[in-house]
Amino acid sequence: MMAFWYLLLAVFLAVTLNLRNRFLRALGTAVAALSLLMMVSSIILADFDGTFAYMPAQADLFGQFKPLILNIQAAVGTAGLLFLLWATLHQISRRTVMPLPLWNSAAAFGLISRYAHWVIAVLILALIPMGMFMSILPANSPDRPSFVAAHQTMGLLVLAFVVLRMAWLLRSPPAVFSSDLKPWERQLGHAVHLALYGLILAFPLTGLFEMMCRGETVQFFGQAIPAFCRPNLEWSSVLATLHDRILPLIFYGIIFAHLGAVLKHHFVDKRVGDVRRMLR
Ligand code: HEM
Repeated sequence: MMAFWYLLLAVFLAVTLNLRNRFLRALGTAVAALSLLMMVSSIILADFDGTFAYMPAQADLFGQFKPLILNIQAAVGTAGLLFLLWATLHQISRRTVMPLPLWNSAAAFGLISRYAHWVIAVLILALIPMGMFMSILPANSPDRPSFVAAHQTMGLLVLAFVVLRMAWLLRSPPAVFSSDLKPWERQLGHAVHLALYGLILAFPLTGLFEMMCRGETVQFFGQAIPAFCRPNLEWSSVLATLHDRILPLIFYGIIFAHLGAVLKHHFVDKRVGDVRRMLR
């Protein structure tokens, strides 16, 4: 059920953020801000209700820092939430926006690519703190099964959406980088985008095989998925290190580079058109 609500939220945001009507677009942005507020407040609540204090002993140093990392995510989430509130007001004042085709053009991404981009982005931004949060819940916590089931379903949804998005890009080639960008900026942009695709595929695949190699059942909307590999604890622990440690670290680096580039183009270089390739 939790996965269904997250999917509904992701689809709602993806659709409203791309609408022409400025009030509905602003509503989408305000709902995104509200969702961040809920994420931030659930981490702050965990600071005080004993969730972090009673977390099971962690095997490594990274594990001991999880409450701190979650609190840093809450701080970044608060900054994002304030930015979205500002963006809500800004959107109400922007009267004219061009209609968008379904297909991508050289200048901008079309609706299908934009919807897939924002559904994937919302699900991943929820999955990372959720994964970390569920990993510090004690094994006998009554909340654990619903978090684990939602995490698996949402992760597999990301896999499905990214495969669809890549298939769509074969039919409808992506918007190109502006020709006045410096060659190194374009190369860096390509590298960051490729790395993001690699990560978005690697996250769900490592999670899926980690569980199957551990002999555990993987669920998708409550339905068990037949295992397609034999239990192998060595592989499972390699995949767990990738899924739980290495991929999140690389992800933070790349997502900051991606967001940094978007904000720099918009606010420093005043290249408003670059950002509008993916967001109204
Ligand atoms: C885009 C998709 C996904 C992302 C971004 C993601 C992210 C994460 C993160 C950040 C953690 C926390 C690791 C830690 O701090 O220990 C985690 C834990 C975990 N994830 Fe995922 N995940 C995804 C998909 C999946 C899928 C599809 C599965 C399984 C079918 C899965 C299974 C797990 C498991 C078993 C854990 C460990 C939970 C525990 O320690 O109790 N993940 N995930």
